[in-house]
Formats: sequence, C-alpha cells, structure tokens
Amino acid sequence: MGYQEILQYIYNETLQLSHIGEPASYIPELRKVNPNQYGICLKTLEGKTYCVGDSQEAFAIQSIAKVFALAMAFHIKGERLWERVGVEPSGSAFNSVIQLEMEKGIPRNPLINAGALVISDILLSELDYPEEQFLKFVQELCGDSDIRYNESMAVSERENGFLNAAIANMLKYYGNIENDIERVLRFYFRQCSLTMNCQQLASAFMAFANHKKKFEYFQTSLTGSQVKRINAIMQTCGFYDEAGDFSFKVGLPGKSGVGGGIAAICPRKYAIAVWSPRLNKKGNSVMGMKALELLTTKTEESIF
Ligand code: DON
Repeated sequence: MGYQEILQYIYNETLQLSHIGEPASYIPELRKVNPNQYGICLKTLEGKTYCVGDSQEAFAIQSIAKVFALAMAFHIKGERLWERVGVEPSGSAFNSVIQLEMEKGIPRNPLINAGALVISDILLSELDYPEEQFLKFVQELCGDSDIRYNESMAVSERENGFLNAAIANMLKYYGNIENDIERVLRFYFRQCSLTMNCQQLASAFMAFANHKKKFEYFQTSLTGSQVKRINAIMQTCGFYDEAGDFSFKVGLPGKSGVGGGIAAICPRKYAIAVWSPRLNKKGNSVMGMKALELLTTKTEESIF
C-alpha cells in the first residue's frame, strides 16, 4: 500500500470515532469552529504530498506553535536557552501551575505553557519586531506567505487567559520573565492563534524531519544536533500528561494543540499533520491520535 491508500484507509477507519470527544470551549472563538471537520496531510522528504479530507481548511494551531517558537529561540540562543527552561517531561496538564512553584520558576520544558511563556519572553528580548519576525519565520519554514494570526482568537484568549496570567506572574516573581507580563502574554496568545491548514503544517514540520532543511529566514539551518534535541523534547513532552501514551501507541515525535491539530515527523522520511477538533480529556485530538497510531502500525515506520 502507498501512503495515499494508507491515509484513505486511516481516514475511513477513524471516521467511526467522529462523535467522541468535545472541542475546546475555554476560548470563546474556538467554540465557533465546526467540530466535524477532519483532514490529514503527509509530505515526504522526496517531495511528494498526500492529503485526505479537510486538509486545506485552516485552523488555530494553538500549542503546536510552541515548537516553532522553541526552534527560533534555540537557533538564536543555542545552549544558553537551557539556563531558563528544562527538558524533562512534566507529567502534568499543559497549564499546570503547581509544578512551577515547586521548581521555583524554572519550567519543566518549553512545550508546557510556563515554558512557552519563557520562550516568548526570550524572543521579545532578542527580536526587534517579535510578532512580525515569528510570523515570517513560520511562513518561510513552510514556503507559504499566506499564513496569518487570527487576531480575534488571540484577543478572545487574552480576555479569558487567567491561568496563563497566573503562570506569567509566577515566572516574573521568580525572575524568569524580563519583559512586561502583559506584553509576554499578548505575544504568546498571538502565536497560539496562528492559523494554518494540514498541508502548511506538514510543510513547516519538514524542518524537523529533514535535518538538512535550510531556514530561509536565517539563511542557515538548525544543526543536526538541534533538530535531534527538538525532536527529543517533542517525543517526551509534546502531549503533556499523555506523552507516554502517544509514544507507546504512535512512536513519533509530535505536538498537539487544543485547536485539534497534531503535527508529527518520522525522521528522514516524512512530516504529517492531522486535524479534528474533538479532544479527549487531556486536550488532544481523539481522531488525530488514532490516525497516527494506525499510520505507524500500518507502515511499521516509527523511531522505535
Ligand atoms: O495556553 C493555552 O491555553 C492555549 N492557547 C494553548 C493550549 C494548547 O494548545 C495546549 N495543547 N494541547
């Protein structure tokens, strides 16, 4: 079976789960999304693209943006990045506050909210036009300038982002935020509101599947070692308190978002993005998780 037949098989198999789970509702703008949409796109290193379903419908990538922000900050700061954020799985929810207090303001990893707020703060300190430069970075990663922030999503999230504000305040108390808290939150929420379709997301994730891909924006690429480390963090932390389950069932580095997207890579083979807004209790797409499990089971391709 080729990838197109496999995607079609996965799509048909997973459709029976289409009534399970609930879309995220804590951000009013996310409630407006039709929960019955479902798309998949897989891109290979050889340059082939395979799509099924609503793969061209754009959605808010939410926490998947944390991987792009991490890549940008890691590229700029190198190993000094790890002075302000750890690389251990949290085993907690993405927006947990308790661990941050226990560990005195050093977030467990860059893919939980606390870590992403620190990364946002670093980018604010390093970049002249953070929002514009971040957007350009992602546009160039996927070779598509037709990617935008969803401003009303970002505003809607800020108006309800009390827990993220609490996390940012605690980080500031422990001296791990340099910039104004409100500024950090605004930048973080804009990253979360970034709107992409499965095909664009799979293209952008090729940077983590292909260790040699150049980042046009910097006229350079991440080093092989940096790509390895970002993938390792995705593998161990990309699904919060469900990272073990994703590793166990899928066996690929990946990242989820509460918009219902999941992006994953098979090193040196392909990048894939799946989107279905209905989430399980841990905030990860029900059909997205199952689709990727079926993919690695059917292809017998995973990192293990
Ligand atoms: O910080 C938040 O609450 C969201 N904007 C992003 C959360 C998210 O996508 C978590 N991932 N599953």
